[in-house]
Formats: sequence, structure tokens, C-alpha cells
Amino acid sequence: MSLFIKNISLPNNPTERANVLIADGKIRSLNARAEDGAGHETIDGSGLTLLPGLIDLHVHFRDPGFPEKETTASGCGAAARGGVTTVCPMPNTKPTIDSVETLELIERAAAAANGVHVLPLGTITRGENGESLTDYAALNRVRNECFRLTGRGLSAVSEDGKSLMDPRLMREAMIAIQANGLKIFSHAEEIGLCGGCMRLGKASERLGVIGIPAEAESIIVARDILLSEATGCPVHFCHISTAASVSLIRWAKARGLAVTAETAPHYLILSEDDVQADNGRFKMNPPLGNEKDREALFEGLIDGTIDAIATDHAPHTAEEKNRPLPKAPFGVTGLETSFSASYTALVKSGKITLPRLVELMAARPAEILGLSRGVLKVGAAADLTLVDLNAAFRVDPEKSRSKAKHSPFAGREFSGKVKMTLINGKVIYHD
Ligand code: DOR
Ligand code: ZN
Ligand code: ZN
Repeated sequence: MSLFIKNISLPNNPTERANVLIADGKIRSLNARAEDGAGHETIDGSGLTLLPGLIDLHVHFRDPGFPEKETTASGCGAAARGGVTTVCPMPNTKPTIDSVETLELIERAAAAANGVHVLPLGTITRGENGESLTDYAALNRVRNECFRLTGRGLSAVSEDGKSLMDPRLMREAMIAIQANGLKIFSHAEEIGLCGGCMRLGKASERLGVIGIPAEAESIIVARDILLSEATGCPVHFCHISTAASVSLIRWAKARGLAVTAETAPHYLILSEDDVQADNGRFKMNPPLGNEKDREALFEGLIDGTIDAIATDHAPHTAEEKNRPLPKAPFGVTGLETSFSASYTALVKSGKITLPRLVELMAARPAEILGLSRGVLKVGAAADLTLVDLNAAFRVDPEKSRSKAKHSPFAGREFSGKVKMTLINGKVIYHD
């Protein structure tokens, strides 16, 4: 099986056109001659840019437990439409991902889906009960897709949805996790400070809504940095949303610690001022911050403090999200808008270059997972995304392939439309 993509732009070289040859699922040439296309199925890439398939470190597919919100199949459909070729579903399912049986169940669902690589995380504690550690070694032996791509049954572990609050158990977990060659994805949230439904500040006061202080996040970021230093366990910080967290992570990196971080497009584009009391669409955890936080996140993306953009795609039914703020569940969708939102907010605005965005959305996530993917190079797997950087469109959640027809970006106009997504050289999405 072979494919020839002609006249396409590459991120490092936007003014020139290249011909790309793909055979047996791999990139064979990134500068083929026009005549090399003879005999191959050909796609005309004129006006389009070729990117490595995007890798999203943080999604929620609700398998098992809540198929009405999302399934592995519907989530993979949304990923493909967003140009995302690898996803890491978080383990806060029902039951949680803490057993071989559950991992295998997800493996079977992924094998029956569209080919998007599904690398689920395991929990830190059994059932996310905060009391006893998951058997990491047992999960690591599972021979699933994750094993094929990473050599381990798990890509990482996380208590996402909350923090493991007991610092003694967290320390013990870090020692065991490090010994199993894994890392922690830390959802940082001091439980004693939560209980609100948006960021504490002027906007929450104006709306008369209970707020969550910014320190709820940064206190746990600080704790987990110190525990990482003490134990040597690598820690990846999920969905960083506050200026103080960015400073703490910058400090940890300057000390040479094994710390990485992601943020999400909604923290870059929206703020507490967008939150509406009668509408759950802008409710997520951690909550939207203020302008100082946004500024700090931009700086962190520019100077390398933040390694990755992930979505925290957290689907809920439209009925749940349409409730007033206090009654709506935490979580917003993101898989289908992450590239366009990030391209518009970061590259079109002149803050970062397109190659840097590709690093944030593909190359660094691959490194964090230990995958040899996420880059355009000869011999690499042909997980590819074709985008039209000049195409502008309005976000319409009704068109979503996710079961969750809601988006905090509904009605916004973004540039950079995903036109085609390939996995191992096979087209799985075509706009
Ligand atoms: O907004 C969120 N939604 N934050 C979380 O930590 C969990 C997630 C979910 O599972 O819906
Ligand atoms: Zn989380
Ligand atoms: Zn999450």
C-alpha cells in the first residue's frame, strides 16, 4: 500500500512545496520528485500543510461506565476529526482503569475503532480510593496497543479528576511508579480548597458563585515537585492553569527535575470573565483563570516551561452541560478544536511559530510518552494530519463526532482547519 501526497507545505518551510511518499505505513520520502508519484495513489496537497499526527496526552473517553457521554469509538472519531492520531484516556472511568480486565476491555474497544492509537493511563490507587496502590507491574505486563508502542502496558498513571491527597501514600506511590518505569500525570488540586464551580475572584463575586482559589492548584504542584525530587519519580502536570504553577514548574526545571507540564486551549483563549452563571458550558476543573494567568501560560509556552498542549477533552451530555453553573458537571470537550484553537491563539497571533506548535502538540507529547512518533522524518510511522492554515470556520458543536455536543468555543471563529488524518499511512478522516 502506497500513497503520494503532492505539492504540500511542510511546517519548517512554508513557502516551498514538497512531495511526500508513503509506503507500508511509513514515510519514505519528504522530498520526492513529481515523477516518483507514478503508480501510487495520489492526494493533491496544494494549499495544505502536512503535520505529524497530533498526540493528545489528556482525554476522557467514558469507557467503561458512561457510554452516553462518550465511548472509545466516538472519542476516536472526534480525535480523527481534530487531526489527533494518539490519545491518552484518563482512568476515572467506572470501574476505574486499575485492572487487567479493564485495560483489555479498552484495548478491544480501541481495536474495533478507527485506528487512532489509544494509550490509557492506569490509576495511582485502586478505584481512585486514595488508600491502596494499584498493581502497576500487573498492568504493565498487559500486551495491548500501549505495549506495542511503548513496551509497557501503561503509558503512565494518574488519579485524574482529583489529587491523591495523602502525601505519605503519594510518596510511596512515586517510589513504586518510578521502579516500574512509569510516570505520574498529576491533576493538582488541594481538596480542602475546592468546592466551588469557578475561579475565586472578581468574576465569581460578580456572579455570586462560590469560587476555587488559584492556590488549590499550585499548592499540589509544589508538593508534587518536592516529592518528585525526593523520590526521582517523573511527574507530568496536567492542565496547568495558574501563573504560580508556571513559576513553580519553571523553578523545578531549572533544578533539573524530571518534571513536564501541559496546558489546554481553553486556558489560553478564555478567562473567568467568560463564565456565565446560567450555563455550564464554561465549567471545568481546574477553572478558567484571569488575564495574569493567561499571560503566564503564554510565557511558559514560549520559554519551554510548558511542554505540551493537551485538551482534557471531558465529554458530558448536552443535557448535563446545559444546567446552571452549580448543577453542571466539570469538563469541556476539546479534541475537535484543539489544533485550530491553538493555531489561532498562538501562531496567527504571532506568539509562537508553527514548528513550535507542532512540538507542543506532537513531538514533546511523544517524548513524554516514550513514543517514536510525533515528527516528520523518513522512516517514521505515517501518522499524519493535513491542515488548511488559511481556512477559517465557526465552531458548531452539532457537527461534532463526539457524543458530547457542547463546546466552550461554540460560535467562535478559528483558522487552521483539519482536512485529513492518516494513521500508518491510511486515511481515517477526510473533511
Ligand atoms: O473538568 C474536568 N473534567 N476536570 C477533571 O478533573 C475531570 C474531568 C472529567 O472527568 O469530567
Ligand atoms: Zn484533571
Ligand atoms: Zn482530565
